[in-house]
Amino acid sequence: MSDSAATPLKGQKALVTGADSGIGAAVAVSLAEAGAAVGVNHRDSGEAADDVVRKIREKDGEAVQLKADVSREGDVKALFDRFMEEFGRIDILVANAGVQKDAPLTNMSLEDWQKVVDVNLTGVFLCMREAVHRFLDQGIAPVSKAAGKIICMSSVHEIIPWAGHVNYAASKGGLHMMMKTVAQETAERKIRVNSIAPGAIKTEINRESWETPEAEKKLLKLIPYGRIGVPEDIGKVAVWLASDDSDYVTGATLVVDGGMTLYPAFAGNG
Ligand code: BGC
Repeated sequence: MSDSAATPLKGQKALVTGADSGIGAAVAVSLAEAGAAVGVNHRDSGEAADDVVRKIREKDGEAVQLKADVSREGDVKALFDRFMEEFGRIDILVANAGVQKDAPLTNMSLEDWQKVVDVNLTGVFLCMREAVHRFLDQGIAPVSKAAGKIICMSSVHEIIPWAGHVNYAASKGGLHMMMKTVAQETAERKIRVNSIAPGAIKTEINRESWETPEAEKKLLKLIPYGRIGVPEDIGKVAVWLASDDSDYVTGATLVVDGGMTLYPAFAGNG
């Protein structure tokens, strides 16, 4: 394998939001292994972010941790300013930060509705807007065919309705059209915007759905491929979407879910 095949992101600078745990941490590590220098954003868990940075540096990668709450406009501006001071340019944004605050509709507080929309939808809007500004200022560099790449971390719940999670499902449904609209708006400027829609990936966010053998068995019934995903499944896809290997892909959602969106309940006839 040639060196550039192993490190398709060599020389590129990537910002990953919510990179201190779960899918975000795995994406940060995968991008670094593929040759990118990575900004490891976190909101309030500096130690966890330091661990991710350490893991990257141990493998001779380049990373810094950057604290910011992506749902705050001032924080996002400061985050990008610090990223630029650190790395000089930005080639890749992975808008990954996301939260769940579950409750049936009739019990859901306005606060929990708002929090999820603020992080999962407004947070991605603020980060995309800032990234596109910077991509346009920079233009195309020799490190990539595109002027910039954005990957939004969506969910199978941009497709699958999810009782008890109306805030989360609404935020991901909204993210779907936001991603496509921004992709349409920026394609002629050579910016690519795509989403990854993970299914059940083993992380803290869904611990209760895989933690006990009973819960795991129930969850596996929803996954035709027969295993629960791991964060690295998403990291590998993020590398591809960020690299020139996917240069003709924009406005797409790549579903990575072991078949969860294939309506497995219909497998035995309707
Ligand atoms: C949610 C997880 C859930 C998965 C599949 C994700 O977007 O964050 O909690 O396990 O979708 O339902």
